[in-house]
Amino acid sequence: MYNSKIIGLGKYVPDNVVTNNDLSKMMDTNDAWIQERTGIKERRWVKEGSGDTTATMGVKAAKIAIERAGIDKDDIDFIVFATLSPDMYFPGPGVQVQHALGIKTVGALDVRNQCSGFVYALSVADNFIKTGMYKNILVIGSELHSHGLDKTTRGRSVSVIFGDGAGAAVLTREENNSKGILSTHLHSEGEHAEELVLIAPGLGKRWVNDILKDNDPNDESYFPYMNGQFVFKNAVVRFSEVIMEGLIKNNLQVDAIDMLIPHQANLRIAQFIQKKFKLNDDQVFNNIQKYGNTTAASIPIALTEAWEEGKIKEGDTVVLAAFGSGFTWGSVIIKW
Ligand code: UT7
Repeated sequence: MYNSKIIGLGKYVPDNVVTNNDLSKMMDTNDAWIQERTGIKERRWVKEGSGDTTATMGVKAAKIAIERAGIDKDDIDFIVFATLSPDMYFPGPGVQVQHALGIKTVGALDVRNQCSGFVYALSVADNFIKTGMYKNILVIGSELHSHGLDKTTRGRSVSVIFGDGAGAAVLTREENNSKGILSTHLHSEGEHAEELVLIAPGLGKRWVNDILKDNDPNDESYFPYMNGQFVFKNAVVRFSEVIMEGLIKNNLQVDAIDMLIPHQANLRIAQFIQKKFKLNDDQVFNNIQKYGNTTAASIPIALTEAWEEGKIKEGDTVVLAAFGSGFTWGSVIIKW
């Protein structure tokens, strides 16, 4: 068995900055509420006509990650793409990346695990590498939320939270089993599938022909719904559990964590975890203030920034953890 290790990281966020004050011109909200409840000051929203999509942003992040990895695109054996906001309902964006980067006809897998998407994607890639099936895998998390949000007061409890962007990582085979990704831990609880959900264009509840026939301007099934407080309460419990699960699996104590990168769901969630585990400010990385919640892109964007800022060094124990729609949650323990 091998380990996998991350040898290249990249991110891309659209130029267009949308502040909380900008949002207050679209809906009944305000900077104080958003900052107090979420920690978010601004987010990036793709400007119409810019050409940015979930796939193209993923490609931009991937190009940087591949260059930093120092490998050629033709060395990539497999692509895993995590998103909840694909350009098309099908096919998923993995194949768009294969085409746009001109990578040979390797497999491209799309992961649909929302906020936990990147953690799930890393786990898949890690296990393909561990078994020896592939050597180099490109893993992407990318989201274009802004085109699908209800930007009226009706949607304010969801739309102020989400932002657009992409992050990518290149994983390669590591022969030293004490380095790289040590373990990944994945969970789900489908009982709560509809507590954070986008009903359409799924076909289980509404048939496309009925939606078209009804042509109802009040149809909210195309906008995300979130039972915010319920999600919050579950998130703090599951984040804690799955971080501990990863540490215990590797015989590590909480004080071994050099850098915790939580999915950027809400600054209050990250602060709760930090306090619970008695971690210092320099042991937890947050950038939700600048980007909002970018779902599957949040961990790779944060990981890239933490690495770019020199906050992750060789030998560090890095912990990634996520929770979100599904419910799904997971963690990744890395010896950098
Ligand atoms: O990434 C996936 C995982 N996601 C999460 O983990 C998110 C978890 N949940 C949350 O982060 C929080 O629940 C929210 C940030 C979504 C909401 O914060 P909250 O403290 O739970 O607020 P609330 O939903 O209980 O709403 C409190 C009040 C309500 O007014 P009333 O009923 O008290 O009069 C809302 O109508 O705030 C109102 N409100 C707003 N006010 C101004 C809701 N959204 C807004 C808004 N601006 N954007």
